[in-house]
Parts: sequence; structure tokens; C-alpha cells
Amino acid sequence: MYTQSLDLPGQPAERPLADASVADRQSAFDARMAEDAKIEPMDWMPDAYRKTLVRQISQHAHSEIIGMQPEGNWISRAPSLKRKAILLAKVQDEGGHGLYLYSAAETLDVSRDDLVDALHTGRAKYSSIFNYPTLTWADVGVIGWLVDGAAIMNQIPLCRCSYGPYARAMIRICKEESFHQRQGYDALLAMMRGTEAQRAMVQEAVDRWWFPVLMMFGPPDAASTNSTQTMAWGIKRISNDDLRQKFVDATVEQARILGVTLPDPGLQWNAERGHYDYSPLDWEEFWRVINGDGPCNRERLATRVKAHEDGAWVREAALAHAEKRARRTQAKAA
Ligand code: 3HC
Repeated sequence: MYTQSLDLPGQPAERPLADASVADRQSAFDARMAEDAKIEPMDWMPDAYRKTLVRQISQHAHSEIIGMQPEGNWISRAPSLKRKAILLAKVQDEGGHGLYLYSAAETLDVSRDDLVDALHTGRAKYSSIFNYPTLTWADVGVIGWLVDGAAIMNQIPLCRCSYGPYARAMIRICKEESFHQRQGYDALLAMMRGTEAQRAMVQEAVDRWWFPVLMMFGPPDAASTNSTQTMAWGIKRISNDDLRQKFVDATVEQARILGVTLPDPGLQWNAERGHYDYSPLDWEEFWRVINGDGPCNRERLATRVKAHEDGAWVREAALAHAEKRARRTQAKAA
């Protein structure tokens, strides 16, 4: 069973090096990095490694949770019972991903309350892509195909991340993302085989989402402040630009089979590079969106904070129930 428990099967209760000097611990950590071994929660780790993991894992968790909103909007308007059931399951999966990832972050000595507070007060980032609106049913299909497709491209290498709990969470998440991507592509295929109006709706959605999706991979390598260190630590395995290129290369053929045009006149095969060239992206838009000024930033955050506040009674009831059970167990033991 999947677990983020601090005790791993076969692991001694106390990890070695408990009494070692910081220099010895750093050398042991460096040696583990050099042999590409996993770091587990009970292992010593440099503070900067811990902080960067908390930053990345919690941002990832927040993205999954906020990411429930653009598609959640469409559950009550899905065009058939089948599409509604699929969408419901998918949005629930995203919530589950957020929870595994918060659990993985909690193994790094941070509390869930602090992480959630950072999101709700706007101190923590979440993926730029979820600040764009879902205007038509075709947007739901395009999110599955392109947004989840980009997420898989980014997240498969994270299954090999040096931090054990994050890597293990990513294995399950990637399996579920693969279903998400396929259901989106399937919904779009159905529309492309439908009426002229449906085909136009799909093309219009692809036109709006294509460039924001390419920005999901993060700024160009030259402007990526974290990449050098996170790659040296084996957290990130492939750079932002390389992942973006892999995604473009994989998607062109999928678009052709679907029958849509990717909205970039500069998109063309470069035989010399063995890759597709594409036009420069609007990085000013990217920074504006991640700094809080995208089309839906305020709405997304306000909806999340309201859901948290409306759910306070559930947390209080669960706590009261747990306390009652603890008192009963104590009384029985006495
Ligand atoms: N959206 C918001 N912020 C972004 C971003 C994006 N698309 N891309 C980069 N940034 C931020 C970084 O967080 C960093 O800010 P910080 O230092 O304040 O944290 C800054 O821009 C500079 O970028 P870097 O390239 O230096 O940052 P990273 O090395 O952390 O790379 C990343 C960014 C590729 C997103 C990396 O953090 C990562 O791989 N994260 C894990 C995956 C993830 O979080 N995916 C989010 C989407 S999840 C999802 O899509 C859900 C699915 O169900 C669809």
C-alpha cells in the first residue's frame, strides 16, 4: 500500500550518523547524491535541500488543489452521464494528488496548516495554467490532452527524484495523469467527429490554451533560478526548455491525428536539430500570471479560501471525534 510513513520496512529505527558532525553528515549526503541513492525522511539533509523540496512539493500540491476548479466548474454541465462520471473521477483524482503531495511535504518537518496558510495568503505559488478560464466544454478536453499531457512530461522524471516520498508519490500520480490525458483526447476526438460547430469549438480552445500550456514548464533555462541546484540534487532531472521541446515534439503528431492546427505559424520541423522549432513565448504574460495578475488568479484563490472556511465544521467534527475515541481508549486502559 502507498504510504508516506516515516518508518520504512527493513529500515532501522534510528538512522546511522545520529551523533556525527555536520561535516560528516554532509559528506554522507554528498556520497548518496553521487551514487544517485534516495534520501528518506529520517536521513540528515542540508537545510537548503529540505527548503527547496518543501517549496517545490507544496507548490505542486497547491497546483493540484487549485487545478480542481477550472474543470470542477463543468461537472454539472457535462454533455452526458458518461462524460460527467469521467470528469467527476478525474477531478477527485486531482484532489487526491494534492493530498499525497501535502503528505510528502509533511515528512520534511512542515505542517499542513502552514502550507495551506501560505497558499491562502498568496505567499505560495501554484501552476500558472490554472489561472486561465474554461469557457466551453472543449476546454475540458483540451485540459486533459494538453495540460495533463504537459504535466506528465514534467512529472515522469520526478518519479526518479532523489527524495523518496516525492518520487513514490509521483509514480502513482503519473499513472492517474495518463488516464486524465487519454480521457481528454478521447473527448476531443468525439467532438472532432461531430458537427462543424463542435470542431470549431475544439480549435478555438486549442488556440487559447496552446501558449499558456508551453509556459507550464517554467521560464527559459537561462532565467530558471532554481534549476542548477535542483538538478545537482537530483530533484529535477530534465531542464524546463528540454521538457518543453519534448512536449512540442510529441504533441504535433497528436494534433494532426485529431485534426486541429496548433496556433503557431513558426512551428516547423528542423531536420538539423531533429526537433520542431516554435515561436518565442510571451514571458511577460507568464510573469504577470505567476505574480497574481492572470485572468482568474483572484477568483481561484477566493474560491479556495471560501471552500476551506466552509469546511471548518468538518475539521472540527473530525477532531472532536478523534478526541472522544482517545478518551474512550484511555478510560478502557485505566
Ligand atoms: N507556474 C507557476 N510558477 C512557476 C511556473 C509555473 N508554470 N514555472 C516556474 N514557476 C516559478 C518557480 O516556482 C520559481 O519561483 P520560486 O523560486 O518562487 O518557487 C520561478 O518561477 C522560477 O522558475 P524555476 O524554473 O527556477 O523553478 P523550478 O526549478 O522550481 O521549476 C517547475 C518550475 C518546472 C514547475 C518545477 O517546480 C516542477 O517541476 N514542479 C513540480 C511539478 C509541478 O508543480 N507542476 C505543476 C502543475 S501540476 C498539474 O499540472 C496538475 C495536473 O493535474 C494537471
